[in-house]
Amino acid sequence: MAAIKLKPKDYLPQPAKNRDYGIGIVGCGNIARNAHLKAYRAFGYRVVHACDINEENLKAAVEEYNIPEGTTDLDELLADPAVEIVDLAVHANQRRPLVERIAEAGKPIFSQKPFAMQYQEAVEMVEICERAGVPLMINQQARWAPQHAVIKWFIDEGLLGHVYNVMHVIRSYQDRPDHWFSKLENAVIVDHGCHYIDLSRHFTGLTPERVKCTNTRVPGQNGVTPMIYSMTLEYEPEAQVMSTLHFNDICYAPPLFDYTWWVDGTEGSVRAGRTEIAFAAKDDEAEQTFELEGSWFPDAFGGSMAEMMNALTEEREPLTSGRDNLNTVRVAYAAVISSNEGRTVELSEIG
Ligand SMILES: NC(=O)c1ccc[n+]([C@@H]2O[C@H](COP(=O)([O-])OP(=O)(O)OC[C@H]3O[C@@H](n4cnc5c(N)ncnc54)[C@H](O)[C@@H]3O)[C@@H](O)[C@H]2O)c1
Repeated sequence: MAAIKLKPKDYLPQPAKNRDYGIGIVGCGNIARNAHLKAYRAFGYRVVHACDINEENLKAAVEEYNIPEGTTDLDELLADPAVEIVDLAVHANQRRPLVERIAEAGKPIFSQKPFAMQYQEAVEMVEICERAGVPLMINQQARWAPQHAVIKWFIDEGLLGHVYNVMHVIRSYQDRPDHWFSKLENAVIVDHGCHYIDLSRHFTGLTPERVKCTNTRVPGQNGVTPMIYSMTLEYEPEAQVMSTLHFNDICYAPPLFDYTWWVDGTEGSVRAGRTEIAFAAKDDEAEQTFELEGSWFPDAFGGSMAEMMNALTEEREPLTSGRDNLNTVRVAYAAVISSNEGRTVELSEIG
């Protein structure tokens, strides 16, 4: 095939068309300070108010990012008319009571992932927001990360033809003692794995019908639940596509960490890592490779917030709305049941 003309603007996250929304950030922990706020500064977004019950984290965010107002009291932030979007960057198990209060205040919610650890809780939060008429988007910002956005570009350009295989392998280490991640039940499948489930839905344009997931504990591990899984997602037969997701989050050999997507279509295939994508069309003798600009952290966070702002401006549902995300949570939840019970789980069993 002739050389592909791939340009950074084809996959880099773009700022919102109207950036003039006041953001109130709730939860000023690690991800808020190291990704959300960094990206918002780079993209020219206005953060007008910050809230955290931990004074140290609040102070760190306010000082580093010159946020005009800071409080430990959510009601104060909600009473501020300058706050037009509430960016909720707390943990999933802290989310529901805050969603209730923010919805009651009538402010649009941009929530960190995972939306919820339990499917039913996610449904209830969607209903709370819908009853209050409050827009809700889940920050599945991985969709705007360069290495994922570029895969979607190849698919959307028709360069892969009919996509029939989506495969992901990640090898990493997050089994740190005393870290919240190791103490959270089902953290690898639900908290971190929701990115890869959501990306599978994004690349195939479909939600699977059934899930088979296996996992194992590793001798001496710190995590309260297994840190390694293999997941197979099955779609309706007419869709003629399958996804396989494998995550070893307790790899003890850093030189052999990995992050690779393979997406195969009837007209071509791509292989994407964190910083490079390779493409070969059907019957090509050589692959074409492209170095990617930008990064997931923090750039993608500017892209997901742009989607939130654009959806508000255009008065439409955001791409990863709370209702859309129910299917991502549902697949993660099904994967937990599947691995616990050693059986294939139909999505129709849930909800
Ligand atoms: N790629 C990603 O999107 C990504 C990466 C890392 C973490 N996360 C997610 O972000 C969430 C937070 O992770 P983290 O590492 O920043 O955790 P963290 O513990 O560092 O930060 C959470 C913050 O929320 C604050 N908080 C808790 N309850 C609150 C309340 N009622 N009101 C105000 N503030 C409150 C805490 O005091 C803390 O500062 C998790 O759900 C995690 O999965 C997402």
